[in-house]
Amino acid sequence: MTAQATAPLTVLGIETSCDDTAAAVLRVGDGVEILSSKVTSQVAEHADFGGVVPEIAARAHAVRLPDLAAAALAEAGVAPGALDLIAATAGPGLIGGVMSGFTFAKGLSLSAGVPLMPVNHLAGHALSVELSGHVPFPYLLLLVSGGHTQLLVVEDAVTFRRLGTTIDDAAGEAFDKTAKLLGLDGAGGPAIEKLAVNGDAARYDMPRPLLGRPGCDFSFSGMKTAIRQHVEEADIARDAADIAASFQAAAVAHLISRTARAMEMAGEARHLVAAGGVAANTLLRAELEALAAGEGWQLVVPPLKFCTDNAAMIALAGARQYLHLGPEAMGDVMRLAPRARWPLDEREADVTLGSGRKGRKA
Ligand code: KG4
Ligand code: ZN
Repeated sequence: MTAQATAPLTVLGIETSCDDTAAAVLRVGDGVEILSSKVTSQVAEHADFGGVVPEIAARAHAVRLPDLAAAALAEAGVAPGALDLIAATAGPGLIGGVMSGFTFAKGLSLSAGVPLMPVNHLAGHALSVELSGHVPFPYLLLLVSGGHTQLLVVEDAVTFRRLGTTIDDAAGEAFDKTAKLLGLDGAGGPAIEKLAVNGDAARYDMPRPLLGRPGCDFSFSGMKTAIRQHVEEADIARDAADIAASFQAAAVAHLISRTARAMEMAGEARHLVAAGGVAANTLLRAELEALAAGEGWQLVVPPLKFCTDNAAMIALAGARQYLHLGPEAMGDVMRLAPRARWPLDEREADVTLGSGRKGRKA
């Protein structure tokens, strides 16, 4: 292995932690240049099962990745041997999929003689804002997707302070489950948002989770139970819009109240970054904008293609961490086993709150 940890680096990123197979090639130095970024979704493979099937995902990643990585390299005009670094997600996520991607990355690293950097998927999300522009450290990140709901202070490329995480469902998962209970087709979040436009958000009582509890953790399972009860008692044809609006308002209010608390605990930070699929929600964006403006903060919401799962963020995080730590800090990567559970802030890893033990989504 001959590469030095000096910028700029040409880096191949690989992402396989859930149901998107992704590969990207970036040049990372003073700035970031995305030479190629490819994402293929497995929605069709899982459609008949009502959710992501881990074994099917792992297999689909293994089948697709060689061609996808080759296509990303070809589009970038970079031969494998000309790479300075390969960065691959090594957790957290569905372990079979992570193993598919990381094993492929190990093979390519050995055959091309290029160093391999294991990347925490959440670090990819945490640093991804740089794909669309520079935001100074430290900043506060609200990560809200189908798999994660976290508040993190990003101090630098390798230092993250987790202020809160969900103790049960992720925010996007709550949107998806509510949509399912209402019998809506297609992607849950956008379907709820569309239906809620004509709904009365004040009509249904919704719980206010963890109200008055210290910290910045989230909980969405009580909302799910409330929605199930409202749906059972409702005339869906007449009441669905009101239920959707009531849910959306409660979910956004919960996200906002925990974010407001996190802003008080975020030290020097004056930038709030929102990422993940739920950050596409118009009501959430408007409320975050108002919250940030009221406190003299700046809100940054990167384009959706960078804040949903992708490999450009893995390449970027791997390169920034490699440049920060240096090659000697990497240890024996070939012996490294991927991790299903890998909290970004290890100090917060085993905290429990109430009855909910923080699980995979933490
Ligand atoms: O980050 P993402 O694309 O994928 C992963 O979770 O990996 O996030 C997807 C989530 C889904 O739960 C989806 O329902 C939610 O983001 N979502 C939304 C909206 N668009 C997508 N939730 C609320 N409002 C939206 N407009
Ligand atoms: Zn993700």
